[in-house]
Amino acid sequence: MRESDKIEAAVSRAERTGLGHVPDPADPRAFRSALARFATGVTVVTAPDADSGAPLGITVNSFASVSLDPALVLWSAARSSLRHRHFSAAPAFAIHVLRFDQADLADRFTRNGAGFDGLSHTLNDAQVPLLEGTLARFECQTEATHEGGDHTIIIGRVTRFSTATEGEPLVFAHGQYGRFLPGR
Ligand SMILES: Cc1cc2nc3c(=O)[nH]c(=O)nc-3n(C[C@H](O)[C@H](O)[C@H](O)COP(=O)(O)O)c2cc1C
Repeated sequence: MRESDKIEAAVSRAERTGLGHVPDPADPRAFRSALARFATGVTVVTAPDADSGAPLGITVNSFASVSLDPALVLWSAARSSLRHRHFSAAPAFAIHVLRFDQADLADRFTRNGAGFDGLSHTLNDAQVPLLEGTLARFECQTEATHEGGDHTIIIGRVTRFSTATEGEPLVFAHGQYGRFLPGR
């Protein structure tokens, strides 16, 4: 039986009993599969390397808005990430919201991706690398960090933002990239 069929079989078994699942840290597949039903956008968060100042980026779908006044946003950094140390300590960072045709940019900033190699960027006053041409960009100062299990929740105060006049978002759901289809 394929891995995805096994997950589906376990999910249907639990749904039939009507009781649902209890999250099992030893086997997080069903929990992940439930979470993957929530569609998100895709962002690249950037900050300078804590030691060398070299540009760093990480592909992130845990981005969320928090507050309008003050202007606050958040994302969660996996403690298991090799880049966690840099992002959780960064005094400033930027969040870039990707367009539907920027999945290649997302791939650059996942494990073993090319990162900033050969990619043009500028630096803001806080030495945060900025990418051009994304759907929206939020430059932030780190407002607070909170431990959240195996992630660190990073709250940013938006100091500057920009928005593209047009373009559709890249969407992530069911473990896949796609695009938004207006409905109703
Ligand atoms: C669509 C997508 C969303 C992701 N969202 C997050 C996220 O919200 N937080 C996070 O720490 N890693 C996230 N990751 C994983 C990171 O991009 C990265 O691959 C992972 O942290 C391992 O990188 P590293 O150990 O080389 O730093 C996501 C990956 C993908 C493909």
